[in-house]
Amino acid sequence: MVKHILFSERSKAGLPAGSSFPVNATASADIAGGINALLDSGPSTHLTVIILTADEFLRLGAAGERLLSDSVYFRVIITGAGMDDSLSESPLLANVTHVASSPLAAAELSFHLKRAFSAMERETNLAAERNNYQSILLDMKHDQEDLINIGRALSIEKDPDHLFRLILMLSKKITGADAGSIYIVEELRDGGKQLRFKYSHTFSKDLPYEEFVMPLNKNSIAGYVAVTGTILNIPDVYGLSRSDPVAFNSSFDREHNYRSRSMLVIPMRNHHDEIIGVIQLINSKEDDSGNSRVTGNEAFEIVLSTPEDFTAKVVPFASRYESLMEAVAGQAAIAIENNRMMKQIQEQFEEFVKASVTAIESRDAATSGHSFRVAELCKQMALAVNAEEDGFFRDVQFSEMAIKELEYAALLHDFGKVYIDLAIFQKSKKLFPKEFENLMLRFDYLYRCVELRFLMEENRLLQKARGGADVSAGFDKINAERTSRLERIRAIKATLAALNEPTVTTNDPEDVVRKVHEELDALDCFDPDGNPIPVITDSDQINLEIRRGSLNPLERKEIESHVVHTYNFVSRIPWPPEYRNIPEIALKHHEKPDGTGYPAGISGDADIPIQARMMAVADVYDALAATDRPYKKPVPLEKTLSILEDEARNKKLDAELVGLFIRHRIYEKVDKDSFKTGAM
Ligand SMILES: [Fe+2]
Ligand SMILES: [Fe+2]
Repeated sequence: MVKHILFSERSKAGLPAGSSFPVNATASADIAGGINALLDSGPSTHLTVIILTADEFLRLGAAGERLLSDSVYFRVIITGAGMDDSLSESPLLANVTHVASSPLAAAELSFHLKRAFSAMERETNLAAERNNYQSILLDMKHDQEDLINIGRALSIEKDPDHLFRLILMLSKKITGADAGSIYIVEELRDGGKQLRFKYSHTFSKDLPYEEFVMPLNKNSIAGYVAVTGTILNIPDVYGLSRSDPVAFNSSFDREHNYRSRSMLVIPMRNHHDEIIGVIQLINSKEDDSGNSRVTGNEAFEIVLSTPEDFTAKVVPFASRYESLMEAVAGQAAIAIENNRMMKQIQEQFEEFVKASVTAIESRDAATSGHSFRVAELCKQMALAVNAEEDGFFRDVQFSEMAIKELEYAALLHDFGKVYIDLAIFQKSKKLFPKEFENLMLRFDYLYRCVELRFLMEENRLLQKARGGADVSAGFDKINAERTSRLERIRAIKATLAALNEPTVTTNDPEDVVRKVHEELDALDCFDPDGNPIPVITDSDQINLEIRRGSLNPLERKEIESHVVHTYNFVSRIPWPPEYRNIPEIALKHHEKPDGTGYPAGISGDADIPIQARMMAVADVYDALAATDRPYKKPVPLEKTLSILEDEARNKKLDAELVGLFIRHRIYEKVDKDSFKTGAM
């Protein structure tokens, strides 16, 4: 600080005759101009005592106001006449160290000057100290904010690769580092450990990097930190000597024409205090030593291009970054571990779901792999929707999570079938095989009874013949009658066998059954004791009267209930929020746009989510194309696609999605024989 005295010509009268000043002094006729010149030259480098008369003091005007803003750097001594009450009203009063109404003695002047300079020195020192503390506080506040932001950013990043990028980018930003790398400690099967060079980035140069592994020992700088857990803050890696515990390998610098200088290497510790990796930062560009102070965030943007830049713009890492980066590394370690754990849980869960679905599907070879194929078809449809740039799906996008949600919903969509009697799924005719067998046995019994009845009648005739009667006409009649009845029984059997097939015929099944009953009534179905024979049971009748397919209304209801069972089961899984739609998607995969689906018979895009509509298309496609149904031949592709189009036209499937399915040839992306148990 330069000490300086500024005095006016007029104030001389109040000073000792022939005054000499202890420091550099300037006389000025225009005191306001002198003050302005002083302030313009940078007042913070000067400590100034201004000596002037009361008149001049009161007329300082704008110059006086300017002085107010830098009041620690000047003091005022007022000498001579012109004093009045208005002096005490001046806002500058605090800076007036002395007012002399009569001329000052030399010793007095010297005393007042010393006092003024010493007060200014004390004040400026205090101000400097205050500024220093303020800047430390500000740094701490920034660090704290950085830490909070980093913690928040790291905790929400789910993708492991993005996480490494984020950790390094944030670390470089807050320390102003130009380059950096992340190393991860990996456990080997034999219990040993190795260090994986996982990710690296250099701001000033676009340098390629490749993952590699190295032994976990103290031979490398990163290895040393990973083994010892020591933070290394090296001002210049080329300044390391043989006595230092670590040595710098300069091959990277030579290869890429880079110059590593300062380095900060921090271990990443998890909550068990185990070191799970290392963050290595190179070349801090934050100069916090001088006035041209830049924070890490700004320094990060400085590009090092020439060899001079590496000397002029690179500084050692400030020591405060050691503890700050230790905290950041701690947060990073927890985020990495959380990420690993999440991935592990996700993989375990996925394997569990797949194993459960496989177990359920293996009950029935007919549906083996169905859920896996539907999941794959749904995923391919979602990717196709994402690829559509215009048209109906222009504004529809599935995120990675949304696709996973759809896949899970598809894998589990038929899970509820586990609650349903397998025989119903496998029912290929209107009657179960045992029921049909029993029906046929009852007809065989009837057949035998009829035969027996006629035999008995023949017997009676023979007895009459032994008595001498002519019975030949009677025999002929019996023979004709027997042949006719037995033939009718065989015909009824054939009719019922045909009716047992699930195919749709032109004959009304109820009509056929009614006629069979009439026929049977005409046949007089009695056993040898005269009791009626109930050939067709009530249950047989219900099944034989099925108009379409092989299921009666009760069985159909039971099969349809699988969606509700699926929903109840899937709803009990505590899904994370991003998968919250799984139960609803699974519940609605049999709903149809025209409202004829189940379980609720809802209609319209708003009520049936697009994912459920996609699943419906995939489900119908797979059911038609599947090659493994014992009672149904696979439908050829062309026919399958035309059925899908018919279904779309009739509002049984979403027309836009069927269009997408065909346009993107989704069926070619999933092998219709894939995922079968045993085939894997
Ligand atoms: Fe289903
Ligand atoms: Fe299905």
